Amino acid sequence: MSKIKIHHDADVMVITVDNPPINAGSTEVRQGLLDAINALDVDRKLTAAVIIGGGTTFIAGSDIKEFSQPLMEPHLPLVIAAIESCSKPVVCALHGAALGGGFELALGCDARIALEGTVLGLPEVTLGIIPGAGGTQRLPRLIGVEKSIELICTGARIKADLALQLGIVSQVVKTDLLANALVLARSMIGTKNRIRDIATPISAPEAIASASQKALKAGKNRPQVQKAIEMVCNSLVLPIDEGLSIERNVFQSLRVSSEAKALRHQFFSERKLFKALSESDTKAIELSQIAVIGAGTMGSGIAMACLNAGYAVILLDQHEAALSNGVKRVEQYYESRVQGGKISPAQICELLQRFSHASNWELIASADLIIEAVFEDIEVKHEVFKKIDRYAKDGALLASNTSYLDIDAIAEKTKNPSRVFGLHFFSPAQIMKLIEIIRCKKTSPAAIATGLGFAKRLGKMPIISANSFGFIGNRIYAAYRRQCEFMLEEGAYPEQIDKALEDYGFAMGPFAVADLSGLDIAWGMRKSLAASRNPAHRYVGIPDSLCLAGRLGRKTGAGYYLYAEGSNSKSIDPIVNEMIDSASRAKGLTRRSLSTDEIVERVLLTMINETAHLLSENVVTQASDCDVALVNGYGFPRWQGGPTFIASEMGQEKLDQGLQELALASGPGFVIANTDMLFKSL
Ligand code: 3HC
Repeated sequence: MSKIKIHHDADVMVITVDNPPINAGSTEVRQGLLDAINALDVDRKLTAAVIIGGGTTFIAGSDIKEFSQPLMEPHLPLVIAAIESCSKPVVCALHGAALGGGFELALGCDARIALEGTVLGLPEVTLGIIPGAGGTQRLPRLIGVEKSIELICTGARIKADLALQLGIVSQVVKTDLLANALVLARSMIGTKNRIRDIATPISAPEAIASASQKALKAGKNRPQVQKAIEMVCNSLVLPIDEGLSIERNVFQSLRVSSEAKALRHQFFSERKLFKALSESDTKAIELSQIAVIGAGTMGSGIAMACLNAGYAVILLDQHEAALSNGVKRVEQYYESRVQGGKISPAQICELLQRFSHASNWELIASADLIIEAVFEDIEVKHEVFKKIDRYAKDGALLASNTSYLDIDAIAEKTKNPSRVFGLHFFSPAQIMKLIEIIRCKKTSPAAIATGLGFAKRLGKMPIISANSFGFIGNRIYAAYRRQCEFMLEEGAYPEQIDKALEDYGFAMGPFAVADLSGLDIAWGMRKSLAASRNPAHRYVGIPDSLCLAGRLGRKTGAGYYLYAEGSNSKSIDPIVNEMIDSASRAKGLTRRSLSTDEIVERVLLTMINETAHLLSENVVTQASDCDVALVNGYGFPRWQGGPTFIASEMGQEKLDQGLQELALASGPGFVIANTDMLFKSL
């Protein structure tokens, strides 16, 4: 079956792309388009053409599944060149998404018309590449260099009305896209209107420099962002064919880079998260009202995430003062959004109409989903669930936001454990993308399906975990932090480890993170586990010593680092380094220098090892979920792919050897995981 369907509307050829679900620009699509344009050119009865997408969308991009192999002919630039050299006008009719190569194809046409709500953009930089079919040369000719830098370097997706304002499309219609496109095509008979013939508008050098600086900062200075800027600027000084040829070469070399491969891995790993939703026959429960119990930072953040997604929300706290603080937090957040121009006062008005708060439990009876977000203490949670169980309606689902407590134990004390599960948000909950959905022993498939659908509507990345201490993310993070503490004892200092990992791409090093979140949280957990800890296992006492000295992190002005009063900027504290030296001495360890490479390698191996443990223990079923978790919840650099991607690049033999060496360096208590399941799942 051809991916391109052709019919003639009198004298206009209608070319329909038919490659569901997203009409990706695969080899067959490109070949079909090229054949159609060649046929248009020679058919005397035809005067123009319209290219349109079949189904729900225009072309949402080139087929990135093809990107790991050499690309097959014809390449997209050849298709676009054929459109440009065709003697008859070609109109692009856009709906759904016109992204990447789809958008570039549209820029190669003589006119563009869009259905209201269409999304347009060049998201290539998010995949580690640059637009490879003229996007960096044609867009600036149409909208100028600065705006192009902004759109291309952020991969922004803009709506049709903004595209109209910018002059990217010439018309936006509410209905009858094809009929309107045909009218437009007929109005152009006998003319061509190629973007390649326009000169890029001149911009002030300062304005270009400022747009470039902004883009580099937002794009973390990644190579594809640097190159995209360079390409866009070429459009000012080079003839278009030269600019196109350079762009294509850069695209081709970035496409096969390890960074682009890692980003493609992340892209497909994130797409896999919702597979269970489409593959299962289980029906999710429809949710309209959500109750959040506990108005602390987490509870109010969850309330905001739900409000943003269009749900009606009740925030409940038994303590009036806590409730009023939580409500204030919600209101202040939205006020700041209005002030920052992110949302209009009318939108806030609508949103706050869906928000209510109470200290009276009876009000949760109307909620379809009740999320508990109270203090992390099992007794407190039991009490709260007793109340929830009493007041919730029979069909409601009950979720706990605990980050490590045993949800099965909580569920067992309720009337119907099949409706209990975990929804572990990450702070700030209205912003962080990651959410862990905890499947307990008796949780019903409908509850999990509902959790997935709920997370999707919130715009989150949900990973499903069994009910196991630390679930997925915190389990990997704890192993990572322990490994960094080992390295402190062996010879490194916090600033050296933090710098090595930040240079690798982590948003923050582990000790800066510990200071930010407060050292007392992990201290409390260590104390609660002290009785069950195996005394033969290696245990680093440095964090405990810091806590005992009152150094609980930023909030006390000192932790691993020193913080001047009222400032978040940290400085090295020689006292901490002395404490570390003396901890090494006390264990009879001769301190040695650790290289940046060793630090990074030990951290990555530790993460892979813990991921393999989680798979063997069936805590996680999809290995790539661990990559999604680390990138979206723990500041792991997206462009490095995540532990399972790194493992697959390394190969099993090299990994197993590395784990043997890591076990020797880590000492008693470190358990090497069986990596068979990990490699089977890749
Ligand atoms: N290539 C191959 N497959 C793709 C794809 C692409 N560009 N984009 C999406 N898919 C696949 C997904 O993996 C998924 O497959 P599955 O059903 O087997 O799991 C299916 O299409 C549906 O995708 P989503 O689940 O994401 O569907 P949504 O409706 O939620 O979103 C979308 C649709 C907005 C188009 C979203 O998929 C998206 O943003 N896609 C990426 C678009 C993109 O980055 N395009 C640029 C590509 S690079 C390029 O064009 C290079 C050029 O310059 C030469």
